[in-house]
Amino acid sequence: MRTPSLITISVGAIVAGAAVLAVRPPTPGRHIEVPSALRQGVPSPAATPAAPPPQAQPRAQTAARPATPVTPPAASAWTIPDPDTLPADDIFAQTVRRGRDLIAKTSSLIGPDAPDPAMRFAGNGLTCQSCHLQAGTQQYGLPLAGVWGVFPQYIGRENEVRTLEERVNGCMERSMNGHALPVDGPEMKAIITYIRYISGPQQVGKSLQGRGAPSLPLLDRAADPEHGRKVFAETCAACHGADGQGQRLEAADAAEQGRRYQFPPLWGPDSYNDGAGMGRTMTAARFVHANMPLGTTWEQPQISAEDAYDVMAFVNSQPRPHRENLEADYPDRSRKPVDAGYAPFVGPFTPEQHRYGPWKPIQDWLKANADKVRAAGP
Ligand code: HEC
Ligand code: HEC
Repeated sequence: MRTPSLITISVGAIVAGAAVLAVRPPTPGRHIEVPSALRQGVPSPAATPAAPPPQAQPRAQTAARPATPVTPPAASAWTIPDPDTLPADDIFAQTVRRGRDLIAKTSSLIGPDAPDPAMRFAGNGLTCQSCHLQAGTQQYGLPLAGVWGVFPQYIGRENEVRTLEERVNGCMERSMNGHALPVDGPEMKAIITYIRYISGPQQVGKSLQGRGAPSLPLLDRAADPEHGRKVFAETCAACHGADGQGQRLEAADAAEQGRRYQFPPLWGPDSYNDGAGMGRTMTAARFVHANMPLGTTWEQPQISAEDAYDVMAFVNSQPRPHRENLEADYPDRSRKPVDAGYAPFVGPFTPEQHRYGPWKPIQDWLKANADKVRAAGP
């Protein structure tokens, strides 16, 4: 759980970023307002005081008007059970809260800063919460809430049905650039128990509305990493650093908060590897559009869809850890996402077009040639 001092610093950083933006000539279609960063204070919305209504915010009239129209998903109730309401001396409750800690303090508990080298499963300085916002309780912030009831599930990357444990380990090996947790060990049990608890009164077999990140219309042009570099400098560097390496916490704060970064790196050795979901520009753009700068919610995006594609095309063209044997992913090649940035590249399109788009022609080609591609095998 974060301390109030972090909240203050985050707001300061956003205000500093906004001040920088204010002196630049406005880019058509881009409006940045100060996000309600106070929402970031507590991992569980159930324990969070209601955020001020949009009208109460100073610049609500200038709310982001994305250049590409985005159809917002219909609002729906988003109520997540709060582990802190469970009894203190109950073993189930303790396991749930241990799972929450593993999501929010991954780097210090099962990552590079774990005191016992045998416990260093995650290989980078991120936490699960770096992407699964608010310990996985934020609607459209890649929530873990609601995921319990949709696994086991078919996953194209392995072309088989995978369990929730296997899916967690997928992120351990890629997003966390580490290795798999033992499936029957206490850490995996705690993570699964936490996910099951926050998935609450959901219907088994049905995705909660708010899973993943909202979809975005595809660009009809290629994403432009050079424009993305500018978006990054103007909108992201204030927190993630001009060099994309994030901002580490001071040693004392890191020990107290159990994590390495105040603002996580977006590339470089401490970031996700090139086989991670965030390395796909379509997936990453959806996450960033709905959730960044920090404090943004899907209901009020701060950057346009076009800028989200461009900035993540830039971020994903920067150096990051490499995962071996990526050719083995998606053994049914017709299931390979068109924006997967690594070989083999399916169809008569350049690696560039897979990485940056336009993706629609690739999707159309794949649809027309799926049987042929599948028959050709891996
Ligand atoms: C660098 C960002 C990042 C980090 C760090 C990360 N993940 Fe993920 N995770 C993703 C993305 C992206 C997806 C795919 C979401 C989608 O397909 O919409 C995902 C998917 C998942 C899913 C499946 C969710 C669903 O809706 O099907 C689970 C479970 C999961 N991650 C668990 C974890 C755990 C546990 C950790 C920490 C050990 C972790 N992740 C760390 C980015 C990340
Ligand atoms: C106000 C500070 C702030 C700004 C500005 C900001 N971010 Fe973030 N970002 C964060 C924090 C903090 C996290 C991790 C969330 C957590 O730990 O709770 C994060 C997480 C991320 C992640 C997933 C984790 C990782 O390290 O890969 C991506 C990708 C990302 N941000 C991209 C961006 C982009 C692109 C922009 C600019 C459009 C941006 N952010 C602007 C604070 C910020």
